[in-house]
Amino acid sequence: MLIRQGGDLTENDVTPRGIYLRRREFMTGVAGAGLALAAGPASAIALRGEPSRYSTDEEKTSKDNVTGYNNYYEFGVDKSDPARNAGALTTSPWTVKIDGECDKPGTYDLGDFLRGNTLQERIYRLRCVEGWSMVIPWLGVPLADLLKPYGPTSKAKYVAFETLERPSEMIGQRRSVLYWPYREGLRMDEAMNPLTIMAVGLYGETLPNQNGAPMRLVVPWKYGFKSIKSIVRISFTEKQPPTAWNRSAAREYGFYSNVNPEVDHPRWSQATERRIGEFRRRPTLMFNGYGEQVASMYRGMDLRKFF
Ligand code: MTE
Repeated sequence: MLIRQGGDLTENDVTPRGIYLRRREFMTGVAGAGLALAAGPASAIALRGEPSRYSTDEEKTSKDNVTGYNNYYEFGVDKSDPARNAGALTTSPWTVKIDGECDKPGTYDLGDFLRGNTLQERIYRLRCVEGWSMVIPWLGVPLADLLKPYGPTSKAKYVAFETLERPSEMIGQRRSVLYWPYREGLRMDEAMNPLTIMAVGLYGETLPNQNGAPMRLVVPWKYGFKSIKSIVRISFTEKQPPTAWNRSAAREYGFYSNVNPEVDHPRWSQATERRIGEFRRRPTLMFNGYGEQVASMYRGMDLRKFF
């Protein structure tokens, strides 16, 4: 465990040698057959994950589209901005602060946070609230496996997530297009659902910066904005936490944000979507097609009210 704030880093921490040593430590510390978790922005080390029964066998969206058509407002609001601007982000060293209602709060080095877990490949549909979708082969770890060791208490009803705030490298944060830092949240059962993963890679490689390096959430039955990128803080809370999109337009973006073709966005229908790389629109599925795994969590809830 490393308790240190970003501001205390010494010159030595960011030398190539420092990064190299950290990366080695990272790789050897992770259990699992033939598995290597790589830290570091430019490493592009091939990562191998175990296939998952939760994966879809639908055709994958091309890697060029997955890494070139992004929403990541910290780097600009156009789809091509993140690929152009996110290279400026330093992703190693990286720490994650765990706090709130849990037994083991602290600030942990990313390697320690992930250590001991087996990477899985999860090919998931991701459906954006704007009406497009992709199929992405993620590499990640179930969020439940990462969070349980911190001992959430009985008061922990929600999990809140925060993205890095560093306008010197995240040029989109120099403008107030959203409340920074970007925040998201899940109810505890949603966070612990086996479909929810923390992704550290895609297409067999380290996560590109524009997709949320070094780690981002993937919650496949919710609209894409719930899948928060470049996470530096995870808090266990008793109350429902505020989220960036809900704060900026509460009428348009609710806390739950489950993919739901029957509940329209106030300004457009959510009944259909366009798969990136295709022209025709296809019907959007309830819970993005993951109803079997998640519908029971919302039984008895009015999804028009809790949208
Ligand atoms: N996370 C942060 N920090 N900032 C963002 O602007 N955009 C969200 C989500 N996570 C966003 C974010 C939205 S709207 C979508 S659709 C997905 O990231 C897109 O993820 P992708 O670029 O990997 O496809």
